[in-house]
Amino acid sequence: MARLRLGVLISGRGSNLQALVDAARAPDYPAEVALVISNEAGAAGLARAEVAGIPARLISHRQPGFEAMIDAALSDAGIGLVCLAGFMRVLSAAFVRRWHGRLINIHPSLLPAFPGLDTHRRALAAGAKATGCTVHFVSDAVDAGPIIAQSEVPVLPGDDEASLAARVLAAEHRLYPRVVRLIAEGRVHVDGDRVEIR
Ligand code: GAR
Repeated sequence: MARLRLGVLISGRGSNLQALVDAARAPDYPAEVALVISNEAGAAGLARAEVAGIPARLISHRQPGFEAMIDAALSDAGIGLVCLAGFMRVLSAAFVRRWHGRLINIHPSLLPAFPGLDTHRRALAAGAKATGCTVHFVSDAVDAGPIIAQSEVPVLPGDDEASLAARVLAAEHRLYPRVVRLIAEGRVHVDGDRVEIR
């Protein structure tokens, strides 16, 4: 069966992109990273794409028509699923509607706790005993939309932002490829605000 073609949108380091690229090396993985788009010229993830031999585009948000260019690039590449992976721009309601059900994001907290930025600092400040990461379909509210899967990690005594971020990031790298596999296998079904994995 044809593999699901992923378009991965990044703004920086690209370690979640790398996790998807690495997962897709397995011959039985049902998806492949077909296109990488960064809105930032300096994104380290662009170099990761180059090393992996994956087509990559720089589309700056400072350019007029930024979203239309992203949309066209994704459509031209025959992308079936758009994965936001540290993409630090909020996409318009029109874009979200156009890719409805085919647009997912990974966020470094257990949503609905700690949407937005500085999630680890806020989890520590709140005295949370656990945190983690969430993969969800994107809706037009920031860090919201039907939750597909979550992975929990403990907050340990002595943790600082860096140690907690590293623990959550390791969980992200396991979770994102797992969720993409489930979607590619047709096992993810959305019913209103809820997602059922069959
Ligand atoms: C990841 O922790 C991701 O969950 C987060 O940015 C980081 C990107 O790292 N995304 C968000 O905060 C989006 N709201 P990466 O570039 O190494 O994948």
